[in-house]
Amino acid sequence: MTRPSKCLRSVVLGVGSYLPQRRVTNAELATMVDTSDDWIVQRTGIKERYLAGEGETTSVLATRAAQKAMAFAGRTAADIDLVIVATSTPDYTFPSTATMVQAALGITQGVAFDLQAVCSGFVFAVATADKFLTSGSHKCALVIGAETFSRILDWNDRTTCVLFGDGAGAMVLEAQEGEGTIADRGVLTSHLRSDGRHREKLFVDGGPSTTGTIGHLRMSGREVFRHAVGMTTDVMVDAFAATGTTAEDLDWFVPHQANERIIDASAEKLGISPEKIVKTVSLHGNTSAASIPLALSVAAHDGRIKAGDLVMIEAMGGGFTWGSALIRW
Ligand code: UT7
Repeated sequence: MTRPSKCLRSVVLGVGSYLPQRRVTNAELATMVDTSDDWIVQRTGIKERYLAGEGETTSVLATRAAQKAMAFAGRTAADIDLVIVATSTPDYTFPSTATMVQAALGITQGVAFDLQAVCSGFVFAVATADKFLTSGSHKCALVIGAETFSRILDWNDRTTCVLFGDGAGAMVLEAQEGEGTIADRGVLTSHLRSDGRHREKLFVDGGPSTTGTIGHLRMSGREVFRHAVGMTTDVMVDAFAATGTTAEDLDWFVPHQANERIIDASAEKLGISPEKIVKTVSLHGNTSAASIPLALSVAAHDGRIKAGDLVMIEAMGGGFTWGSALIRW
């Protein structure tokens, strides 16, 4: 009898997250710019966010989230041979934030690098780690989304500064043998896209090779909104098609947490029931690459996401970039 060919899967062993000390409500922001709690809640669903203080750098937040994910996964520095940090707000132009996290965690083997896909960064990082792990080249990955967007916001621009927050989330993925069916635990499929023609709609107006400054985030919110639902639902349809699953099969939908209206519209378009949506946008604001692992961490630790659950993650962000991954927890 022939055995089915070996199929490696990237299995989630644990998640963890970390938020800065300072929590900032909409009411506090209304003392800084011409805005109101009502406007922010109605247009975005955001009620509060956390902002990094001095010393709370992206690598510090990332390291703390990683420590929690590793403890939950039961893995130590000696087990990890791949570290990917998705961030658009690195501590320094170089070295990468990932190598700083690697050193802080005492990991001395393997490889560490940053991945830059703005708000889609965590989905891109999961997909990238999955390629490494399922090729057999690496065994155990730490995938982190970590951001300090407060450092690149224009605090005089009410159209952007009320939307974003800081934080980090991490996931430990390990290569394990599966049967090659959608009943396997692990990343079942991922679908990444980008289209650089949309650069002007969401960008930072500085950088080492242009202005020599870090610059500030600029966004045509309405334009981004116009594209977000179509792009994210497209890549989720790709994930369903690749696995022969439907919205009904999902246990949890964990989208990028930018705007509650975008989340609800995407779920409604695909027929995903409201009770399957994990939403943390009210608590964290838009934390870019950190938003999905923060949400996953909240829902895994409060007992909602359990082993064997089918979980869809998706995001869309600057570039534009967008992507989805379907994971059997
Ligand atoms: O994570 C990457 C992806 N990013 C996103 O997904 C963000 C996508 N975009 C959005 O979430 C929404 O477009 C926003 C929340 C940014 C804005 O909501 P909107 O419903 O598209 O509002 P708008 O930009 O059309 O602005 C409506 C009004 C404007 O006033 P007028 O021109 O109608 O008089 C703005 O000046 O709201 C005004 N406004 C504000 N008012 C109070 C804009 N920002 C604020 C503010 N407080 N903070």
